[in-house]
Formats: sequence, structure tokens, C-alpha cells
Amino acid sequence: MAQIVKIAIIGFGLATDPVVGPLTTGDRYEIVACADPDPISRDKFTAQFNKPVFNTAEELFAGAEFDAVYIATPTRLHESLAIMAFDHGKHVLVEKPISTSLEAAERMVAAADKAGRVLMVNHKRSVDRNVIGMWQLTKNNGLGRVRAAHRWHYSAWFYRARAEDERDPAVGGVVLRQGAHEFDVLRLLLPSVPVKVRGVTGDWDDEREGEGSFHAWVECGDGTIVTVIHNGYDYFQTEEFNSGLLNPDEIAVDRRRLAGESAESEHLFKRQFGHPRTPGFTSGVYGFTLMSCDDGDLRPAPDGALWLYDKNGRRGLRAEGLQGTAVIIDEFYRAITEGFPALHDGSWGLAVLELCLAIRESAKTGEAVTLSRQGAVDAEIAQRVLGDRVMAEYNE
Ligand SMILES: NC(=O)c1ccc[n+]([C@@H]2O[C@H](COP(=O)([O-])OP(=O)(O)OC[C@H]3O[C@@H](n4cnc5c(N)ncnc54)[C@H](O)[C@@H]3O)[C@@H](O)[C@H]2O)c1
Repeated sequence: MAQIVKIAIIGFGLATDPVVGPLTTGDRYEIVACADPDPISRDKFTAQFNKPVFNTAEELFAGAEFDAVYIATPTRLHESLAIMAFDHGKHVLVEKPISTSLEAAERMVAAADKAGRVLMVNHKRSVDRNVIGMWQLTKNNGLGRVRAAHRWHYSAWFYRARAEDERDPAVGGVVLRQGAHEFDVLRLLLPSVPVKVRGVTGDWDDEREGEGSFHAWVECGDGTIVTVIHNGYDYFQTEEFNSGLLNPDEIAVDRRRLAGESAESEHLFKRQFGHPRTPGFTSGVYGFTLMSCDDGDLRPAPDGALWLYDKNGRRGLRAEGLQGTAVIIDEFYRAITEGFPALHDGSWGLAVLELCLAIRESAKTGEAVTLSRQGAVDAEIAQRVLGDRVMAEYNE
């Protein structure tokens, strides 16, 4: 019989929603307990699992038996909780971003190594179906040399219900919260290592303070051209690139609804109802990716598919097989039970965080920031984690 990994959850907020599905699919994991100081989150866990629930991580480690933890608390707590877990001999899957500082992330990586335990980061956007498809088609120069890759994301991020610290660049902001997703995607797709970042951040709304946008230019070792944008100010949305024009009444709905809400009521809204999904969001594609290669261009299509533009015209293709959080949960299981090297490990999280923080540094100094923690993606590990994907024909 397959080994069952007993897993506990620390922090049962919004991020856990898409993770519990893959954790409870099949018989590889058993969710055994949770720790969360918030009674609403604790009640939600009890209603779903009816398993022991504790107020603090310390009580959890003392009171329950398990092999691994999934840490989904506010990011500023990731380091101390992960190190506590390694001290107790547990494997760790931590939410993105890995932490709020490079030093903290490095301490997490060192603690995992010392304990001989797995550290993985839930960097699930690099394994969205359309991104896996782009990886499949471009790896080993499948479309000739990759000349440029762009990630542009215009969203309602800044105007969805947010916990108090989420907009604050000290511990959150769009650079840490969403940049972590944008750079995760690029890390898988770029053919060479990023060496420099130049960027600016935006705090544009006097009535709602915080970091709501960034624009960045990344230099790669082989000259690949890379631009990265996340604009969470909720006017134009890149969803229109994927699913066509949104209904005019649906644009900026989140923005109007949250205007004038108090921090407390916003926090409560998020706890009880989660984020409202952006109206009109129908394609199921997260942001917009455009890759230009010698032999063709790629961009997302609805339903996880992609459009390939080449000398024969335009063709819809869709990568078959696991995608998203299901890949991450599978990867974590194999890393624990088979010693299988994880792709989205601590060093992946550290590299992504370095790119995010470089935008802030560059915004401060006006200079390009030189990167030192990138390390090439191990193509063999990527291949073992993602497999060889069959590309099925896609018709809209
Ligand atoms: N992978 C993704 O797509 C994704 C999506 C959303 C958030 N996140 C990440 O997940 C993390 C949590 O974000 P969120 O939006 O779910 O926040 P949230 O505020 O909805 O949930 C955090 C939970 O942690 C609990 N918590 C706070 N302090 C704790 C402690 N000391 N011990 C145990 N639990 C504690 C809170 O009570 C809450 O229930 C962040 O790092 C965020 O960047 C990832």
C-alpha cells in the first residue's frame, strides 16, 4: 500500500482553499490537524475535517502526530514556523512568497538542509496548464531560440478584500504577493538566468494606500528580453486578452465596492467570504504571457490552452496531464516518499523572492540591481516533475 503522509495545516485562511482539494484527492495524504488563532478559520477547518484544531503552532507540534506541515499564514510568519517545523523533524510546504527577506529565506533553506527534510514553496503558477504547454513547446529549443518573454497582469488585486498587512510593502504589497507568481512563471520559461532587474513600484491611490503596481525589465545572461508588470488598480484587466472584452458594467466593480470600507470589515469580509472573483473572469487563465521565439510566438488561450503562431498560421494546443496545485501536491509527496528532487524547492522560492525584492531596490535607487541567487533551473528535474506532455489540438 502507498505510504500515507500525515499533514497538518498552519494557518487556514484563503490560500488553503485550492490546496485542500488535491491534498484530499486519492489516498496519499491525511490531513490530521490545524493551528490557527482566528476562530472563523478554526471553525472552517472543523466544519471541513472535524480533526483536532489548535490555537498555536506550539500546541500543534506538542499535541498531534504528523510527518509534514503546510504553512499558509501571513508571509512574515513563514520563517519562524518553518524553522519550528524543521526542529520537530517535519517536511514543509510553505505558501508563496517563501518569506519577506532574502536572509530569512536563506535561513529556511539552511534549516531544511540541516534537518534533512523537504522544503517546498507553493509556486503553482509555473505549472498552470498554459505555462506547462509553453515549457513543453520551447524546451530544448523546440521553437528555436527564445528571444523574448513577457508577463503582463492587469487585475483587481489591490481592490479585493485584504487583511490589514497585505497592501503594506514591508510584509506584502503587490511585489511580494503577485510578483511571486509572475516570476515563478518566468523562471520556468526563461532559457537563461536573469542577471539584472530594473523596476518601479506604484502607490497611486490616495484613498487606499499601499503598493498596487510594479513594472520591471529583466536582463538575462543570453540577452532574452523580459518585461514584467502587475497592475492591481482594476481598470483594464488582462483577462480581456484571454476571453475578449469584459462587460462594461463589470469593470472596476471590486474597486467601487470596497471604497470606504474599514480595515476591520474588509478583514472580516475576506475571512468569511474569501475574495470575490473578478466579474467576467471566464478564461481560467492567470495573467498574460507572450513568448517570442525564432520559429513562432506563444500566448494563452482559454481553458488552459495556448495559441501557437508560426509559419503555418495560428494553432490551438493544450497540454494534457496534471496542472496547478495538483502538480505541487504530487511533487511534495514524491519528494517526501521517494527522495525525488523537488523543482519548487527552497532555492526556487529564494530565486523568485530575489527578483521581487530587486524591483523595490531598483525603485529606490533608480539603478539596475545585479542578482546573485538565481541559479539555473535544473532541466532534468523539471523534466522529471513535469514529464513529457502530449499537446492535444484545441479548438475554441
Ligand atoms: N498560492 C496562492 O495562490 C496564494 C493565494 C493567496 C495567498 N497566498 C499566500 O498565503 C499566505 C496567507 O495568505 P492568505 O491570503 O491566505 O491570508 P489569510 O489572512 O486569509 O489567512 C492566513 C491565516 O493564517 C492565520 N494565522 C495568523 N497568524 C497565525 C499563526 N501565528 N499561527 C497559525 N495561523 C496563523 C490567520 O488567522 C488566517 O486564518 C501568504 O503568504 C500569501 O502570500 C498564496
